[in-house]
Amino acid sequence: ICGACAAARSPLAAAAAPPPALPGGSPLPRRLYGGAAMLRPLRRLSRPPRRAAATGPGRRLLLSTPIFYANGPPHIGHLYSALLADALHRHRRLRGAGPGRLSTGTDEHGLKIQQAAAAAGTSPPELCERVSSLFHQALTHAAVSFTDFTRTSEPRHQRAVRYFWGALRDGGALYKGSYEGWYCTPEECFLPESQLTEHRDAQGRPCKVSLETGHQVHWTKEENYMFRLSAFQDPLRKWLRDNPQAISPHPFYQRVLHWLEEDLPDLSVSRERSRLQWGIPVPSDSTQTIYVWVDALVNYLSVVGYPETHGEWWPAVHHVVGKDILKFHAVYWPALLMAAGLAPPERILVHSHWTVHGQKMSKSLGNVIDPFACIGQYTVDGFRYFLLRQGVPERDCDYYDEKVVKVVNSELADALGGLLNRSTALSINPSNTYPCFSESCFPKVLDYRETKGMGRASAEDYEFVASVASLPLQVANYFEGFQIYKALECIVLCVRQTNSFFQRHRPWKLNRKDPAEQLWLDTIIHVTLECLRVYGTLLQPVIPHTADRLLSRLAVEPEERGLSSLTFLARYNGKSCPFEGRQLGPDTGILFHRLEKSRQPQIETKKL
Ligand code: MSP
Repeated sequence: ICGACAAARSPLAAAAAPPPALPGGSPLPRRLYGGAAMLRPLRRLSRPPRRAAATGPGRRLLLSTPIFYANGPPHIGHLYSALLADALHRHRRLRGAGPGRLSTGTDEHGLKIQQAAAAAGTSPPELCERVSSLFHQALTHAAVSFTDFTRTSEPRHQRAVRYFWGALRDGGALYKGSYEGWYCTPEECFLPESQLTEHRDAQGRPCKVSLETGHQVHWTKEENYMFRLSAFQDPLRKWLRDNPQAISPHPFYQRVLHWLEEDLPDLSVSRERSRLQWGIPVPSDSTQTIYVWVDALVNYLSVVGYPETHGEWWPAVHHVVGKDILKFHAVYWPALLMAAGLAPPERILVHSHWTVHGQKMSKSLGNVIDPFACIGQYTVDGFRYFLLRQGVPERDCDYYDEKVVKVVNSELADALGGLLNRSTALSINPSNTYPCFSESCFPKVLDYRETKGMGRASAEDYEFVASVASLPLQVANYFEGFQIYKALECIVLCVRQTNSFFQRHRPWKLNRKDPAEQLWLDTIIHVTLECLRVYGTLLQPVIPHTADRLLSRLAVEPEERGLSSLTFLARYNGKSCPFEGRQLGPDTGILFHRLEKSRQPQIETKKL
C-alpha cells in the first residue's frame, strides 16, 4: 500500500468513506486484550472456555505448520516447514510433555486458487480436492505426525471465520473504506511502492513487479472492509518487548520490531465479491468476500474448536512459518487476535528458504524439487535427516543432490550404521547380549585427568562419556531454541567420538579367554551400546524409522524409549542398568543403506 493510499485510508483521514469514529475521537482502541486497551466488549461465549495450562509438565501445546496453498503440488520448501514442526512435536512427546497437537492443512480460497483452477480448466473445488490430497499424501509419506489436517473449505472452518469476523466487527475493529493499491495475486496482498520495481511483461509492455518475488502486481481500486491495524502498533510493540522469545531466531524478532517502527497502515480485509467469488462471504454483506489471509490465519483457531473449545489450547500455540509469511503471522495475526479479544500466539518459529543450485525454486525455472521423488530416492529418514540437518532457520540453504548423498552416507550409513554393525557383530559379541559393565575397568573418578593406574579407561574415554551424558540436555535446549540442525550436529559429533572410542581400544584384539580382558571387552561394548541407545532415543524425532530399528536391535522396549528412561551409563554411577545381560533384538541387517547418486528429482507438471 503506497504512502498516499495509506493516508487516504487512515481512520484519521476524512477521505471517501470515513470510518465510524471511535469513542473519544481516537483511532486507538480503548481496551486491548490482556490488560491493554480493547475495542468493545465481545459477545459472550455460551460456555467459558477452559484455559490451557500455562506451565508445568502437563502443559498443552498446539504446534502448527502453515496451511499450504492448494494451487500447486508440494515441494521441498513446504516439506521443510512441516518437518520442523513435526520434529518439535515428536521431541515434546519424547520429553513426556503434556498433551500436544500438530496441525497442518491446505489454504484453499482466494484469487490465486480461483485463477489456478481457471488455468487448469477445472473448478476451484475440484482443484483443491486434488491438491489437498497431494499434500495430505506427501506429509503422510514423509512421516509427519500431524494430528489435524484443516481445509479452509470445510464448514467447521468457515463457521469459525464468520464468528471471528463478527468478533472483529463487534469490537469496532472494522470499517468500510475505499481502497486502492498494487495487488500481488501470488502473494495475496497489497504491496507498497517501496517494494516494487519496473519490469516488462511477456508482451514487452512495462509493468510493475514485487521486488522480493518478481511477481507482477495490478492496480486495484475497490470498496473494502478495513481493519484498524494502525491502532495496534503500540500494543504489538509492547507484546514483543514483553516477550523477547515470541519470535525466533532473533534476527526475525528484530525484523518485526523494525517493521513496527515504520508506518503501519490499516489493512484491507475483504475483496469485492464480483472479483473474488472463491472465498467466504462477509457475514451480512454478500457483496464482499473475506480476505484470504484472515480466512487462512483463523485455521489455527478453528482447529482447536473456536469459538467454543479453543480456550483449552489457546494461546499455548507455536507457529512454524517461512520468512516470506512472517509479517502475516507476527504483525497481522497478533493484531487481529487482540482485536478479537484473544492473546497472540506464544511463539512464532521462523525459517528461511531452500534454493536449488543457488537459485530460487520456481516453476518457470523448472527447478522445483519434488518431495515424493526425493523420498523415493533417499528414503523417508534419509531425506528428513538431510533437510533437518542442513536446514539452518537463520539463513537460506542450498539444495543439491550430491549434498544429500554425501551427508546421509557419511552420517547415517557410515558413522551411525557402521557403529551399530561393529559393536553388535557376532565375532565381537557372540552371545548377542547387552554385556556387563565393569567398575574396575571404568571406575568412577572425580577428576578424569587423574586416572593413571585406576582402570583401563583413559582420560579421553572419561571426557567422551561426559559429552554423551550431557547430550540429552544439550539436544533439548537446541530443540527449545529452534536449532534442530545444531542438535543433530552434536549427536553426530558424539557418534564419531564413539567410533573413535571403539577403534582406540581395538576390542577385536582382546583375548576373550583371559577373564580380565573379557571384562574390559564387555565394558567397551556396554559403553558403546549405551551410547547407541542414547543416539537412537534422541534421533526418534528426526529419523523415526531408523531410530526404531536401532532401538529394537538394542532390545529397548517401546516404553523405554522416552527421555525419562534415558539414564545413560547407570552402572558408572553405581546404579543398576536394566539392559545389562538382556538378549539383543534380532539382526535385521544393515541399519541404513548407502545412497547412490542419481539425477535430481524434480516435479513433473503432469502431477497436477
Ligand atoms: N497459504 C500460505 C500460508 C497460510 S498460513 C495461515 C502460504 N502457503 S505456501 O504454500 O505458499 O507456503 C507454505 C510454507 O512453505 C511457508 O512456510 C513457506 O515459507 C514455505 N516455503 C515455500 N517455499 C519455500 C522454500 N523455497 N524453502 C523453504 N520453505 C518455503 O504461504
